[in-house]
Amino acid sequence: MIRRNRILRTTPAIRAMVAETILKPSDFIAPLFITEGEHVKEEISSMPGYFRYSLDGTVKEAKELWSMGIKSVLLFIKCPDELKDNKGTEAVNPNGLMQRAIKAIKNAIPEMVVMTDVALDPYSSYGHDGIVEGETIVNDATVEVLARMSVSHAEAGADIVAPSDMMDGRILAIRTALEQSNLTDTGIMAYSAKYASCFYGPFRDALDSAPGFGDKKTYQMDYANSREAIKETLIDIEEGADIVMVKPALAYLDIIRIIKERTTVPVSAYHVSGEYAMVKAAAKMGWLDENKAILEIMTSIKRSGADLIATYFAKDAVRLL
Ligand code: PBG
Repeated sequence: MIRRNRILRTTPAIRAMVAETILKPSDFIAPLFITEGEHVKEEISSMPGYFRYSLDGTVKEAKELWSMGIKSVLLFIKCPDELKDNKGTEAVNPNGLMQRAIKAIKNAIPEMVVMTDVALDPYSSYGHDGIVEGETIVNDATVEVLARMSVSHAEAGADIVAPSDMMDGRILAIRTALEQSNLTDTGIMAYSAKYASCFYGPFRDALDSAPGFGDKKTYQMDYANSREAIKETLIDIEEGADIVMVKPALAYLDIIRIIKERTTVPVSAYHVSGEYAMVKAAAKMGWLDENKAILEIMTSIKRSGADLIATYFAKDAVRLL
């Protein structure tokens, strides 16, 4: 035998020397769920160990993330029912919860990269990402609101807006609106290949944003397809996306890989709520070692080509590094 492959696996030291994929704190984007009130900390029932915070707790959490070396937060707000409608009125309120959250975090930690979710679902009386007419989610009227929403987030101080709606043409509309408002330093992280996935279930509990009728299959992608992900992503880049995203992550590592190979912008992957919940549930049953699962999953997502990983395990992962 002249090929002894096990030599490079003999000791921890030699394994460390030849490890190809190394996670670091700045790989992670930490999603935050924000709710109205003061001193509110509510555990999300289907996401054990993950919480909705009011603004005070959100700022505290963001400071802790920053102290751990995590450079970015991705903000989601839970909109009170009485403010929901079919037009996204609250989404563009300069004094809305999202806009106040952006300001509060940027005030406390100016260097933190604040990213914001741009889609209408938390604000929609129908729980859909866009404006509803009959049974249809209408594209162009939605895009117009998303552009105004993005400008509103940027004016409040957001560094990067992250449209997660999967409407056509929204990246160009957002980029154009930002330019027209002279907000030339605001970036766009496009959820370019976002699949219609059952793994978003717990997230919809967190924001009380489950669709009131139907599903999201007329705008989110069919998980049977991979070439469509390339089409969506290349168009988003042409329209001005700075970072592109694949979502979910673990069941879509092949998509992350092809997007990485076909593009020259940073690629992010969203390890979503259902993926988090699966690990938590198995760990609770004693069927998996949670810490080992976290590191293995995060490393595999990075190995597949992700430059950035949005995950509810961000803090855990950094603690384990
Ligand atoms: C909303 C949005 C969703 C997620 C991020 N932004 C849910 C959806 O599309 O229904 C899911 C995130 C997660 O499950 O962790 N547009």
